[in-house]
Amino acid sequence: MIQYHLAEDTIDNKDIQNLIRWLKSYPRLTKDKLTTQLQEKWSRWLGVKYSVFCNSGSSANLLMYAVLDQSKKLKNKKVVVPSVGWVTSIAPAMQFGFDPIMCEADPDTFGLDLNHLESILKTEKPASVLLVQVLGVPHKMKEIMALKKKYGFYLLEDACAAIGASYQGKKVGAFGDMSSFSYYFGHQISTIEGGMVSTNNKEFLDLLLMLRSHGWSKDLDSKSHRALVKKYKIDDFHSPFVFYKPGFNLRSTDLNAYIGLGQVDKLDRIAAARQANHARYKKLLAPHFYIQTPPENSTVCSISFGAVAQSTEERRGIVRALEKQGIETRIFSAGNLGLHPFWYERYGKKSFPVADRIHHCGFFLPNNPSLKPKDVDFIAQTVLSAINK
Ligand SMILES: Cc1ncc(COP(=O)(O)O)c(C=O)c1O
Repeated sequence: MIQYHLAEDTIDNKDIQNLIRWLKSYPRLTKDKLTTQLQEKWSRWLGVKYSVFCNSGSSANLLMYAVLDQSKKLKNKKVVVPSVGWVTSIAPAMQFGFDPIMCEADPDTFGLDLNHLESILKTEKPASVLLVQVLGVPHKMKEIMALKKKYGFYLLEDACAAIGASYQGKKVGAFGDMSSFSYYFGHQISTIEGGMVSTNNKEFLDLLLMLRSHGWSKDLDSKSHRALVKKYKIDDFHSPFVFYKPGFNLRSTDLNAYIGLGQVDKLDRIAAARQANHARYKKLLAPHFYIQTPPENSTVCSISFGAVAQSTEERRGIVRALEKQGIETRIFSAGNLGLHPFWYERYGKKSFPVADRIHHCGFFLPNNPSLKPKDVDFIAQTVLSAINK
């Protein structure tokens, strides 16, 4: 029997009762005012100007790539992608005809390795870089931003699994030209499914809004909408249904936004609980395992605690011990994405020392806000007993 799940829903009984009450007022359910409210609330919480709510973190990544592609600002379609992250941190690059160049994982944070990144920037001169903030451990943002300044690339920041983390007082997800977040079940907060793209760039905002909904201009502010109507000489009757861009439908709904508004209200509390659990795991396990080291002055907010064993054999023993105690576990994120068929069937296998070690020896432990110190101690002790510590 499962005693500790890897992921737990943050939509609790009170949230469900509130939702039922709201539904009984027969509100409009499709995207409307609550979506706008959630976008504004999220932007305020994060400290950026604009946000666009969509139906998943993967859709948020898809939108970021689509916007870059459509912006006509890119000097080329080369993009640096991480070896440690998620399939949809990379898949849209492949779908939109980018030329992805995979980067080794940083030995401290498991984000992009700075030396490898710089050598790619020097030789390939990519126009864009996608950085994953791995598992709520902020990357070395001072160094990344210095490279951005030196080499002049667009930074897409995938903070899908890093909501609530911060670096030198600035929230993770507030660094990129665009950044993405996931509100999937088991992430820091949940809207059932859901995602957000945030940006300070108004041109990107307008493209995000158009591409999210079919390519029309209905969601733009009236000034931007009127500018398009004028530029293309559209008559009033046609104007709501003119498609300016080859768009998608990646919208979420006001029902999901209703849930999201309640989740943002309790986000800081949830984040604090996850931060405390992470710190406790770290104290107990860091002496025996290879784990992520955050940069100074940063706050970690993980949705699972990740650790790397000495060997695949050692990991096997740990997994057995965890399963025996009903503690869910899994591989570390997706391991090395360069070893997955979606990548190697097109580009060949990509092996790197750090990413491969994470792939073959990494594992996850539950970090949910409901865990008490005694639960963390029990889980950590189960791991330690498997390696006779
Ligand atoms: C780094 C990263 N990016 C993107 C995603 C995709 O988010 P979603 O599941 O909401 O599509 C995930 C999901 O876990 C993730 O970890």
